[in-house]
Amino acid sequence: MASGLRFIKTIRDLEITDKVVFLRLDLNVPMDGATITDENRIRQSLPTIQYALEKGAKLVMASHLGRPKGPGDTKYSLEPVANRLTELLGKEVILIEEPGSDAVSHLLLGLKKNQVILLENLRYDPGETANSDELAQKWASFADVYINDAFGASHRAHASIEALPKIMPQKGIGLLIEKEINMLDQLLENPKKPYLAVMGGSKVSDKIAVIEKLIDIVDGFIIGGAMAYTFLRAQGLGVGKSLVETDKLHYAREMIARIQARNKTLLLPVDHVVASDIKAARGEVTAGAAIEGDLMGVDIGPKTISQFRAAIMNSATVFWNGPMGVFENKAFAKGTFAIAEILAESNGIKIVGGGDSAAAAEISGFASKMTHISTGGGAALEYLQGDKLPGLEVLRNKPRG
Ligand code: 3PG
Repeated sequence: MASGLRFIKTIRDLEITDKVVFLRLDLNVPMDGATITDENRIRQSLPTIQYALEKGAKLVMASHLGRPKGPGDTKYSLEPVANRLTELLGKEVILIEEPGSDAVSHLLLGLKKNQVILLENLRYDPGETANSDELAQKWASFADVYINDAFGASHRAHASIEALPKIMPQKGIGLLIEKEINMLDQLLENPKKPYLAVMGGSKVSDKIAVIEKLIDIVDGFIIGGAMAYTFLRAQGLGVGKSLVETDKLHYAREMIARIQARNKTLLLPVDHVVASDIKAARGEVTAGAAIEGDLMGVDIGPKTISQFRAAIMNSATVFWNGPMGVFENKAFAKGTFAIAEILAESNGIKIVGGGDSAAAAEISGFASKMTHISTGGGAALEYLQGDKLPGLEVLRNKPRG
C-alpha cells in the first residue's frame, strides 16, 4: 500500500451491504450550457459506484459543480450529470433539489434496487464551503458509512469532505482515490530512474512548491510554457513581450544554480514559436532561445521538441504538469500535443497532473496511452508538494499511543 494511504480504510474494507453509503464524488465536469464537454470525472467515478451497488449498498451520492453563488444559480445544477449517470448506470438517479434536505431520509425508506440518490450541487448550501457541522449532522443522520472518492476536491476543508467524515465512525476512500494516491506516490517514493519532471503552464509561482519537493527526487527537469520565459530572462536572454514574473527572477536564478549544483539536468526551450499576441492565427519560429522586439513566446519550437523528446524517451518515470504553450489556440498547440505524443510513445511510467495537462492529453487523443492522468488539478499538486489533504487526513485511523 502507498504510504499516503496509511491507516485509511478503502470501501473494500467496510461492511456496506444494505447500508446507506454517503458517497462524495468529484462530478465537477466542464459544461457548455447544459452539455457536459468532458465526462472523464463521471467515468472515473463509475468503478466505486458500481462496486457499492454490487455489494447491495443504498447510495446517496454527492458532489459540487463549479462555484455557484447560491441555490438560484441554476447553471451549476447537477441535473445533466444525473441524467448522464442514469444512462451510464442503467438505474434511476433521483436528484434531490436541496443538498441539505430532510427528504433523503424519507426517500431512503422506500428506495428500490434500481434507484440511487444524488444530492444537488452541495455548494448550493452555504454550509458546504463553510465546513458546517450542522450540515454534516444532517447527512450523518441518515448515513451508515462515509466514502470519499472525490480526489479533485480532497484539498478542500468543506462539510462533505471534512466535517462529515469527522463524525462518522465508519469511513474510508473509494477506488479512484486509492488509485490516485498509489500513482502519485510512485512519483515520491522510490521512482524508477531516470526520473524527469516536465513542467509547464504560465506561472513559476504556481509550481515553486512542487519544484522544491521534487528537486531532490528527480534526475532532471524540463521547463516549458510561459514559466520558461522567467527562467530564460533570469539567464539574461531577451524574451520580447513574453510573460515574465519579474518578482520570481531571483528565485529562478537560484533554482538554476541549485539544479546544476546537484548535477541534475535542466532543459529549457532552445527555440520558440512567437506571435504578436496569443490570439494570432499563426506564429513564426525563432532561430534560437532569444526573442526579439515586440513578439511573445506562445509555444516551444521544433528544435526544443526534439531535445525534449530525447530526454523523455530516455526516462523511466515522467511526471508531466502544465502545457508547453497557449494550446487553447490550435495554432500554438503543437508543442503541448507533441509532449503528449512523445509520452504516448515512451515506455516509461508516465503520470499526468490534472487540469490543463489532463485536458491536453485528452484533446490530443493520447490519453489512453498514459499510465495515469490525475482527476485532480489543485489536489494532485498539493499532494505532490507534501501538503496534507483535509479529505485524506480526516480518514486516517491512527493507532493511539
Ligand atoms: C477542481 O475542479 O479542481 C475540483 O473539482 C475542485 O474545485 P474547486 O477548485 O472549485 O474547489
